[in-house]
Amino acid sequence: MRMYDLIQEKKEGRVLSKEEISYMIQNYTNGTIPDYQMAAMLMAICFQGMTQEETLDLTLAMRDSGDTLDLSEIPGIKVDKHSTGGVGDKTSLVLSPILAELGVPVAKMSGRGLGHTGGTIDKLECFPGLSTSLGEKQFLENVRTVGMAIAGQTANLAPADKKLYALRDVTATVAQPSLIAASIMSKKLASGSDAIVLDVKTGNGAFMQKYEDAVQLAQTMVSIGRGAGKTTYAAITNMSQPLGRAVGNTLEVLEAIQALQGDGPEDLLEVVYTLGSLMLRAAGKTCDAKEARAMMEQVIASGRAVDRFAKFVEAQGGDGRQVLHPETLAVAEIKKPVYAKTGCMGYVKEIQALDIGTACMKLGGGRLTKEAAIDLSVGIVLEKKVGDQICAQDEPIAYVYANDRERCDEACLAVQNAFTVTDQPVEKPRCVYGCIVD
Ligand code: URA
Repeated sequence: MRMYDLIQEKKEGRVLSKEEISYMIQNYTNGTIPDYQMAAMLMAICFQGMTQEETLDLTLAMRDSGDTLDLSEIPGIKVDKHSTGGVGDKTSLVLSPILAELGVPVAKMSGRGLGHTGGTIDKLECFPGLSTSLGEKQFLENVRTVGMAIAGQTANLAPADKKLYALRDVTATVAQPSLIAASIMSKKLASGSDAIVLDVKTGNGAFMQKYEDAVQLAQTMVSIGRGAGKTTYAAITNMSQPLGRAVGNTLEVLEAIQALQGDGPEDLLEVVYTLGSLMLRAAGKTCDAKEARAMMEQVIASGRAVDRFAKFVEAQGGDGRQVLHPETLAVAEIKKPVYAKTGCMGYVKEIQALDIGTACMKLGGGRLTKEAAIDLSVGIVLEKKVGDQICAQDEPIAYVYANDRERCDEACLAVQNAFTVTDQPVEKPRCVYGCIVD
């Protein structure tokens, strides 16, 4: 078999066989197939697409490119959750301790931020000393004793995805449904949970900007998960404006702590409760979404959720007291208000999530290459969201947190331009468009 012939086949729109896909993934992972040939294949896939069967074969080949975790020694139904990526998405930080407190063990493999989207692993590093590089033994031990653990993708868990994702990121081949589905599901299947809940985001800050594409992606991932014998559910959620108010690593952790203390923004909590209901359903706790929501609200109101988060931070090497005293977490030195453009008073019609995410990245809060160091303390806090009224010109629409004046000014301008204001009242957008369950 030759990679050249496979590229040619895909370029002409033919369907690749299971053996061909497996050959391609094995030999790309071990370095026999070079990046330039794989880049050509990825671009051919972007133009020609993949069938459901090819997507499944690709996912399984990527899953089998490395180790798989065995979580069977942890009692209970282990449920994993994954988002397709967004701006201000701190859902995992809020959901995991709630679920752990409700008796659902959370064994979570998370990623770093890339491009304009954030990643849970970066966010957690705002706790000095906290490690997400847990060995398998430690990871399992923490899930058993604390009820939750969050770790970065270990070197040999779906290594094909690690290589492919880095290549896709620099070859403009990220936003292709089969490639996203295989990337996410190969990791989820390798990380050993019994059930998977997917948060598929749509809108200008998501990889799938169009709703129909997000639905197709959700259906594809659900059918892969179920085909592999896992209970799999998905929610389609809105990413046309940032989720919650905070964008930027430490700022998002602060907002997640507030949410765990019962003071979270409405849209974030809506997404948390929707995904949490699906996780409780998958774990066999309740199929009633109202009951699930009440259980989660109770865990927050009682203070148990935030305490569990503190225990988790402590167990992974951070100082749990910082969760209860979040003012000790370092945020950037400069805090500058942003105002709507002159004469723009009225109602917020749109906030381009992609532009806010990009502004945060340019402040130093995200990386342009996989290895780049980032500044965890910078970011943006939105004072106004879609539907809110701006009553006066001196009313800030956002604050930019920066450590550099020039970058701060650039970000302020970008944030200002990300807002569209109208004089007509605007309805608050829906946060959740729908779910795929049984
Ligand atoms: N998240 C992933 O893990 N992979 C993708 O391809 C997109 C989002």
